Amino acid sequence: MTPTALIFDLDGVITDTAEYHYQAWQRLADEEGLPFDRAANENCRGISRRESLLVVLGGRPATEEQMQTMMARKQGYYEESLDQIGPDDLLPGVAGLLDALDAAGIPYALASASKNARPVCERLGIAGRLAALADGYSVERQKPHPDLFRFAAAGLGVAAANCLVVEDAAAGVEAALAAGMPALALGPADRFGGLLADGRVTRRDDLRDVTLDELAAAAAFDPGWHVVQSGFDPATQHHMETIFTLGNGAFATRGTFEEGYPGESALTLAHGVWDDMPIVFTELVNLPNWLRLTITIDGDDFRLDQGRVLDFQRYTDLRAGVLRRAVLWQAPNGKTVDLHFERFIAYPRRHVAAIRLLVTAVSHPCAVVVRAAIDGHVANQDLLHLNLEEQGKSGDTVWLRARTRHTQRALAVAAALSAETSADNGTERAADLCAGQPALLATADLKPGQTLQLDKLVAITTDRDPPAGHAPATGEAPASWPAPWPK
Ligand code: G6P
Ligand code: MG
Repeated sequence: MTPTALIFDLDGVITDTAEYHYQAWQRLADEEGLPFDRAANENCRGISRRESLLVVLGGRPATEEQMQTMMARKQGYYEESLDQIGPDDLLPGVAGLLDALDAAGIPYALASASKNARPVCERLGIAGRLAALADGYSVERQKPHPDLFRFAAAGLGVAAANCLVVEDAAAGVEAALAAGMPALALGPADRFGGLLADGRVTRRDDLRDVTLDELAAAAAFDPGWHVVQSGFDPATQHHMETIFTLGNGAFATRGTFEEGYPGESALTLAHGVWDDMPIVFTELVNLPNWLRLTITIDGDDFRLDQGRVLDFQRYTDLRAGVLRRAVLWQAPNGKTVDLHFERFIAYPRRHVAAIRLLVTAVSHPCAVVVRAAIDGHVANQDLLHLNLEEQGKSGDTVWLRARTRHTQRALAVAAALSAETSADNGTERAADLCAGQPALLATADLKPGQTLQLDKLVAITTDRDPPAGHAPATGEAPASWPAPWPK
């Protein structure tokens, strides 16, 4: 799969301003008598000016005013070296790669945490060739947050999932993965640590002699570890829900969509939680649906049977046990958003599951409302097995208690929601205790390129679990569980 677009980091990828940044920080550190060297500078790679200063300070206290002065001094030293930059300062392989991309009609953007990115690109003579430029002014949250790369993809007008990021910093590779993008990591392997174990990361020393085929391979899924669905086909929906089931041995959930789909078979089953009814067979009980996220884009509910699905990808990363889905969707109201979902059911913490959602406004500003619910209105093919007993809200958590109708097994589901955004006006929060479907809401007004990030953390417990205080320690399975892997 050839990437539709590339997103390049600047410092250390396109040009060696990483060295100038280092020299400027070293000069400041020397003047301030702070212990700092090349090794310490590795931790500044890719992160913002302020975060870098905190690394240089190494825990030494400083007032906001002192920090502002030091950042301005460093910027002054850095600007002195900018004069030396010209078109000859492209790193080896970059000029050839940009020519090849232009010839192949593959657009590319730049995404750098640096506030100097634009003048540097102008000096290098590449500014006019960039389809989009995201810099230190574009978003609030810098790498390793996903926002800058999401901003760049929105600027390109390309589905985020189809962009390949080229990075020299661990924080940048982390940001790419968080944004739902594969990454080509440039530099020595020890710089990237465990990130290289992710099937979406490929490493190279630099861009010398890189080919478009290699970029295509870097953007591709790993057939050994990724179960992939590319493109949405309603006809295969039921089958795909089965394929994308996740579980941890304590409970399992079919791969239905967070927002729901007509005719879906949403199902969560917990080990040993069954109901016995005289009129039918004994069966495992469908537990409250913890996936539910209702996402409204300027009044239109996100759902794949409405609006236009411009791009769809879903895959399970078998190594990490994470299910991801990326959808570029145009609402009936004409507004396009780029959504990225990640879901897992924790293995060591057997009650816990989580969903992360990123919503990025692409074409227009839009008001996004997300309702994260526990849906107790569930049945086993129209047969009700649960009596809903009580629900409520404690702090940032809503919860629902229920009991199976015949076997009288007690169970509870709780959900907490946290929300962060790159929008300047933040998010608004609320709760909605609609009977049987308690929910937490988050609202944000997004401008094009801005992202709302939501984390829904869920816990499911039943009276089959050991009493409080007797729960197995994290990472330890109860003796009665089957071995996780065949011996
Ligand atoms: C890039 C570089 C960092 C630098 C940061 C902020 O991410 O890799 O070394 O600190 O940009 O740059 P600025 O030019 O805004 O100080
Ligand atoms: Mg860099």
